[in-house]
Amino acid sequence: MNPLHLLPPERAHQLTLWALRHGLGPRQRFHHPALRTTLLGRELPCPIGLAAGAEKRGEALLGWSRLGFGMVEAGTVTPHPRPGNPSPRLWRVGKGGVVNWMGLPGAGIAPFVANLQAFHHQPERQQLLLGASIAAPDEEDAALTRLAAACAPWVDYLTLNASCPNLAHACTTDPTASARQQLAAAVAGADGVPVLLKLGPSRDVEAIARMVGGAMAAGAAGIVATNTLPWERRELADGLAFDWPQHHHNPVGGYSGPALLAISRFMVTQCRQRLGSGVPIIGVGGVQSGADAVSLLDAGADAIQLYSGLIYRGAGLLREIADALIVQGE
Ligand SMILES: Cc1cc2nc3c(=O)[nH]c(=O)nc-3n(C[C@H](O)[C@H](O)[C@H](O)COP(=O)(O)O)c2cc1C
Repeated sequence: MNPLHLLPPERAHQLTLWALRHGLGPRQRFHHPALRTTLLGRELPCPIGLAAGAEKRGEALLGWSRLGFGMVEAGTVTPHPRPGNPSPRLWRVGKGGVVNWMGLPGAGIAPFVANLQAFHHQPERQQLLLGASIAAPDEEDAALTRLAAACAPWVDYLTLNASCPNLAHACTTDPTASARQQLAAAVAGADGVPVLLKLGPSRDVEAIARMVGGAMAAGAAGIVATNTLPWERRELADGLAFDWPQHHHNPVGGYSGPALLAISRFMVTQCRQRLGSGVPIIGVGGVQSGADAVSLLDAGADAIQLYSGLIYRGAGLLREIADALIVQGE
């Protein structure tokens, strides 16, 4: 058992961040021709990324890059500090699963940008595809333009997180129109830095087609699929055998973990069919083994991201994925 799992989940994550900030994490680098990837015009040592939410403040970027990630999506950052939802708001569930109801807590844009700037001159920065995930809940779309403008000089890409299930407005019946407006606002501030749209989980072929088409029309440079699975859409996943966490007797949060893989694979396949080759797609959701990563790349993703797999498997998961990709490339 991972000794960190003796701690409550959020505490364990804080301790991990502290260790990474202080240079205490494991160090590994994957150098093999079969791993090299070109994404968004950059050469990456490997297509293995850290999903948004693990590095919300951009405070341990050096540590994450030394763990062997080829890509890190920092954030989601919001314009102003936010406390997020009341604790408890993060649960380990079932086999390899997590439900988070964090609600985008964070310190706001100023310390985030300061952290990006501090990392900018480190040699490790050159080895990493660095993204910033942005959202401006309860604010005008112009706030997204300002957020994008503040992050753009320091990152290789931006992702609009318009699919966080832990915000009151996020589960509207037609997210497409608002996401499109938000995208246009982010693109307006991005100064040419590519803006990707992160989608929520869906198995509705038409809805995915609408979202992807709308995203491209609004200036998106690519797609990240998928965000966590909210309780309301739990029937999309097979095998969710746990009691869903509740707050005041209401199920809360979004699920990450193995049961998401079939959905993310489906979405990546659909997005690739719609977009053809050449438009970047980052696959995320349920990658907890080398075979999982291979299957998501085979479905059409250019790179994968992970979060819950790291909680259960630690840095050894990156080594396993790298080995699987090398074997596949031979
Ligand atoms: C604790 C936690 C916090 C998260 N926060 C964010 C976030 O701020 N922004 C975002 O786009 N996704 C966030 N996510 C979703 C992940 O980026 C990812 O889409 C999801 O966990 C599925 O991948 P996984 O199965 O590899 O964990 C979060 C996930 C977890 C577990």
